[in-house]
Amino acid sequence: MIELKNINKELSKHELYEQLFVHIQAVTHGESNLIANLSNICALLKEEMNWFWVGFYLVEGEELVLGPFQGPIACTRIKKGKGVCGTSWEQKKTIVVSDVNQFEGHIACSSISQSEIVLPIINVEGKCIGVLDVDSEYLNTFDEEDQIGLEKIMNHIVSLF
Ligand code: SME
Repeated sequence: MIELKNINKELSKHELYEQLFVHIQAVTHGESNLIANLSNICALLKEEMNWFWVGFYLVEGEELVLGPFQGPIACTRIKKGKGVCGTSWEQKKTIVVSDVNQFEGHIACSSISQSEIVLPIINVEGKCIGVLDVDSEYLNTFDEEDQIGLEKIMNHIVSLF
């Protein structure tokens, strides 16, 4: 088990993502249980990036169902095409929302969330099997660098299913 000590808070965003990737690989290495791995990934993302809410929604039939997460309680079910998560699922695309109040149909699980990024989990058959949702209490938190960093992490996450 890795121990996370002396995490340098002075790192650039790029360096933070590099460190995060290494920690995610380490914490999932040798563990085959999906829920255990997704749970630890949420903990690392929340702790190291200091985001408001981090969590997975997993596809079950025509809905996304809340999976492992870190942060306040959240909506448990989201229909395909609804909200940012359901739209990411339907379009199989990462969606960056700089102001959630400007996103039509945004589902507010918490009024504190101001911006968010949602990445689809696409398996080897090209099927979307879930999403990773990250929320911030500040506007304009996520940019292209976050998208690139999280998409690299997503390539690892999909290998865990
Ligand atoms: N805001 C999301 C719903 C999930 S919560 O933010 C945790 C959406 O619009 O899909």
